[in-house]
Amino acid sequence: MATNRARVKSVEESIRDTEEPDHQLKKNLSGLDLTVFGVGVIIGTGIFVLTGEVAKTTTGPAVAVSFVIAGLVCALAALCYAEFASTVPVAGSAYTFSYATLGELVAWIIGWDLVLELALGAATVAVGWSGYLNQLLGDLGIPLPTSIAGEEATVNLPAIFIVAVMTGVLILGIKFSSRVTSVIVAIKVAIVLLVIVVGLFYVKAANYSPFVPPAQPSETGSGWSAPLIQTLFGFAPSTFGVGGVLAGAAIVFFAFIGFDIVATAAEETKDPARDLPRGIIGSLVICTVLYVAVSLVVVGMQRYSELSSEAPLADAFRSVGLPFLSGAISVGALAGLTSVVMILMLGQSRVLFAMSRDHLLPPALGAVHPKYGTPYKITLITGVVVAVLAGFIPLGVLAELVNIGTLFAFVLVSVGVIVLRRTRPDLPRAFRVPLVPVLPVVSALACLYLMLNLPGETWARFAVWMALGVVFYYGYGRRHSRFSTIGAAERKAAGQQAGGER
Ligand code: ALA
Repeated sequence: MATNRARVKSVEESIRDTEEPDHQLKKNLSGLDLTVFGVGVIIGTGIFVLTGEVAKTTTGPAVAVSFVIAGLVCALAALCYAEFASTVPVAGSAYTFSYATLGELVAWIIGWDLVLELALGAATVAVGWSGYLNQLLGDLGIPLPTSIAGEEATVNLPAIFIVAVMTGVLILGIKFSSRVTSVIVAIKVAIVLLVIVVGLFYVKAANYSPFVPPAQPSETGSGWSAPLIQTLFGFAPSTFGVGGVLAGAAIVFFAFIGFDIVATAAEETKDPARDLPRGIIGSLVICTVLYVAVSLVVVGMQRYSELSSEAPLADAFRSVGLPFLSGAISVGALAGLTSVVMILMLGQSRVLFAMSRDHLLPPALGAVHPKYGTPYKITLITGVVVAVLAGFIPLGVLAELVNIGTLFAFVLVSVGVIVLRRTRPDLPRAFRVPLVPVLPVVSALACLYLMLNLPGETWARFAVWMALGVVFYYGYGRRHSRFSTIGAAERKAAGQQAGGER
């Protein structure tokens, strides 16, 4: 049996597998489609909800600086993703990249880890969607009972509904999904621009002072609920001040999650080597600019201590006497969260698809629909799991697992870039990260730093989830993987053939 070290899937093998007739996805997406996808999944709960909460409790008006810091960390990771995606244009993103560099065990671990970002992330945002819907229905005088909608619900029906509809859209085809996304993205970007442009007229300079409120002893708790960096190194926690701005960056990081999902659509892209880097970096830059502008406007409109924790954008307009705009913002937020749910599920289905094609999951699950060209079985399973999570499980404390899971994937991709440069310097790279190995190392360390700012209990849950993953790998994946079932010589021959054909 191959050792873990030997179980590295060559890039040629990965690319050859995309040509298997039963597991072939339709190549329909352009660079613009990918950028729209990116914006569709990035702008969501983060800007519509977290801005107010973080400014009020952790950073003050300097929340905009937290957005810049989180954006910079993501930009470093985005460059690494762009290089990988342009070199290995295969569905599966960080999972596929790890298989090509660090071997099967790490690939499995990262595939397992991505469930936290994608399925759990989709469920978390679906619950937020239900909350916004109910707020809007409440404004119209027809709120749903809290037992069936919102975060406290016993059975969250709107969350199940939105997951079911989006699963249907995903099964009907990637081009259809991309059209739906375009419409939604147009609405949400219009609303965000409206906030910036109209809000500018209501900014009061006095609200920016003090821009970084003086540090105060924090009540973040101790032991398990304190950031791990504090438990390990004894840093005294503070809210506000410079420490607050850094802690704020670890929280608003959630707002940037999603640019990496562009890479999961690699196989459905017409010219992946050119378009993936454009889609990944383009969507991140657009969103960072919008985030910084929105957060500056919102903290300028209303004193940070008075911002709403649930709906800060809408509330800031109410506070300056423009309540009719707050309704429009709620509609924009609802639209915005819809595409986030859809694309997170799209990413999840593509990662599971890649894993089943490698036989780390049962291969039959990865079958592609003869008419729609989408991995319909996996998409359906993803939809059911996300619906159950969103509809029946109280997700409050689990939401931070989304951040830690995503940051872990970023660390591995950053390390992977250095490894692949060493092991396969010959591969054509349409996009190259500058300053290797310095930039990927800084990227990995920056992500690790943000991870350390998450609570100890989040780390403990993360460790339990990953340990379960290792058990599953040795229980199923390792024995069924192509490395166990297909001879090495056969794989090598096929790989060389595919390499020659490229
Ligand atoms: N970035 C996405 C959001 O903010 C996950 O909702």
